[in-house]
Amino acid sequence: MGIEDGNVSSKTFVEKLVEKVRSQYGDIDCAVACISGGVDSTVSAAIAKLALGDKVYPIYIDTGFMRAGEAERVRQALKGFFDLEIHNFAEDILSSVEGLSDAEEKRIAFREGFYRAVKRVADEKRCSWAVQGTIKADVVETVGGIKTQHNVLNEELLKRFGLRVIEPLIDLYKHEVREVARQIGLPRQIVERQPFPGPGLLVRAVGKLHREKLELVRKATEIVERNLDGKGYSQYFPAVWEYQVAKEGSIDGVEYVVFSVKATGVVGNTRTYGHPLMVRRYPAGVDVLELYRYLDSRSYPHVLVELVNKSEGGYIAAVRIVKTEDFITAEVPRIDLDDLRLLAKEIASIPRIRAVAFDVTPKPPATIEYE
Ligand code: XMP
Repeated sequence: MGIEDGNVSSKTFVEKLVEKVRSQYGDIDCAVACISGGVDSTVSAAIAKLALGDKVYPIYIDTGFMRAGEAERVRQALKGFFDLEIHNFAEDILSSVEGLSDAEEKRIAFREGFYRAVKRVADEKRCSWAVQGTIKADVVETVGGIKTQHNVLNEELLKRFGLRVIEPLIDLYKHEVREVARQIGLPRQIVERQPFPGPGLLVRAVGKLHREKLELVRKATEIVERNLDGKGYSQYFPAVWEYQVAKEGSIDGVEYVVFSVKATGVVGNTRTYGHPLMVRRYPAGVDVLELYRYLDSRSYPHVLVELVNKSEGGYIAAVRIVKTEDFITAEVPRIDLDDLRLLAKEIASIPRIRAVAFDVTPKPPATIEYE
């Protein structure tokens, strides 16, 4: 089913989605519905619940990579819709990813831990099925080899995890999912919620995963969301990595540093994996939003502009703000850098954060997330 089957904002469209799940899965034993609080997983669970009723158990897996206070916040937001059971697998998943540096290795290890957790809960409830919020963009990007979305599973993986999945939204894009969410009457804070990747803060603690970096990105996230909520951006978040400089240079008065860590980008349909580059100084009149055009985006998929540098502390926080409809491409909005400096100063007050920079790269050639 897709948009061609009817207007996504119509009630009949929702009824068709429900009917499709009922006719395909009406006979199953039962299913756990993994809800993260994001619009995709919440709408999927709602459709499954409407179709299969008591056979669906809404659960929340605490992976250890969620934002501060997130599990309880989501449970409260969904009160009256779902009785959400929280299952804490933080230590199990965190320790299986700790020490890994490569973006894909981190994602794959996370996926193993996540589905081990889902399987454990499904077994407890004697269910063979899991409902999940995979949408079209997740599949397009994983199949295209851009990055391994944690929730895109092939037959072999499903067999290994011992699960079968119901994915009611697999043919829809994000803005269509939001329309369905409105039709169902989900709370506004869920409908409008900015996407949060399944592997959560794991992909924003860029490079080698250890707990100090994870805590720093969690603190910075609270500051960024408090300052930018409600301003109409599609996604806004920080990422943190070690302030380790691999190279310094200057071209035509633009002074920059290149970090040792690696981050992902996309050129054509191919994934790139190169070093973030931060511009420290540039001549008056330079348009920072155009800087990325002058650099080799395969080597430097993310180009940043420095906002604050305390010259002490071991980490940099990158602020990423984008506007997009389909999340396949995204623009960086034009924001006054002096306004951003106020936000940057607050982030830089976190001990161990040395510098704060603004990512000025659209997608492509960057990806929205760093890993
Ligand atoms: P990228 O970084 O690929 O992100 O440009 C596109 C959109 O997808 C979100 N994202 C994910 N969502 N599981 C998810 O559920 C994932 O593994 C994942 N990786 C990226 C990202 O936040 C953005 O909205």
